[in-house]
Amino acid sequence: MATIVGSVTTSHVPAIGRAIAQNLQQDPYWQPFFAGFPPAREWLARVKPDIAVLIYNDHGLNFFLDKMPTFAVGAAAQYHNADEGWGLPTLPPYVGDLDLSWHLIESLVAEEFDITSCQEMLVDHAFTLPLELLWPGQRPCPVRTVPVCINTVQFPLPSAARCFKLGLAIGRAIESWDSAARVVLIGSGGLSHQLDGQRAGFINKEFDLLFMEKLTSDPLWVTRYSIADLVELTGTQGVELLMWLTARGALPGEVSLVHANYHVPISNTASGLMVMEVV
Ligand code: DHB
Ligand code: FE
Repeated sequence: MATIVGSVTTSHVPAIGRAIAQNLQQDPYWQPFFAGFPPAREWLARVKPDIAVLIYNDHGLNFFLDKMPTFAVGAAAQYHNADEGWGLPTLPPYVGDLDLSWHLIESLVAEEFDITSCQEMLVDHAFTLPLELLWPGQRPCPVRTVPVCINTVQFPLPSAARCFKLGLAIGRAIESWDSAARVVLIGSGGLSHQLDGQRAGFINKEFDLLFMEKLTSDPLWVTRYSIADLVELTGTQGVELLMWLTARGALPGEVSLVHANYHVPISNTASGLMVMEVV
């Protein structure tokens, strides 16, 4: 059966793509952000995943307001980046894993998650940036990918409790997949940020740090909050932290924290990074 090695959860901000394209990793503004990543890369080099199940939120690129699945899973041989204009040069397509995609979709539907299965799926910065940060300059990306997309764009959004349960079901699905593959979960989103309205620029460092602390030891802690609570506590786009929670939910048994980094702000966003290993 397949092995889950652990998770990497990280913020995504389009301006990171421009910073990578312009080689600004040592620039004083960017250095504290990029400095978080070498330990995550070292961990990946040690645990050697073959596949990344990448949990992210689309930003109106592949799904628009006219058709908005709550949960969608990619089942394509390749995923093309179609983010517009953020400074990253043209990226080669990401290679999928059809066998895991369909096993995941079948398992999740059997567990009463009504998944939209996507045999074509364009991906945006939320998908491409974690892979660029974790395997820099390695194009094509050296791991196969399965995208899992959660709606954070149009209300109603799935609750934190629901996302955690989705994560649990994803974990069970991967562990029941008849394969020798090693799988890493990547959660892409958050932490606190609000891009629009009267609270544009809102960041809640205290909440972010508590969320990160609880994610290892007590991930159910955050499920006490409704979506409205989370918007109030973390900003309208801070709800992207649901991606971290879903990825964490997929980790079986005991986990240990390998690495964490937190830096505010990058663009308008509190940027966090966590690596958790299944022990
Ligand atoms: C920013 C953050 C996001 O999560 C996003 O999707 C777009 C922009 C930002 O902080 O600029
Ligand atoms: Fe985002």
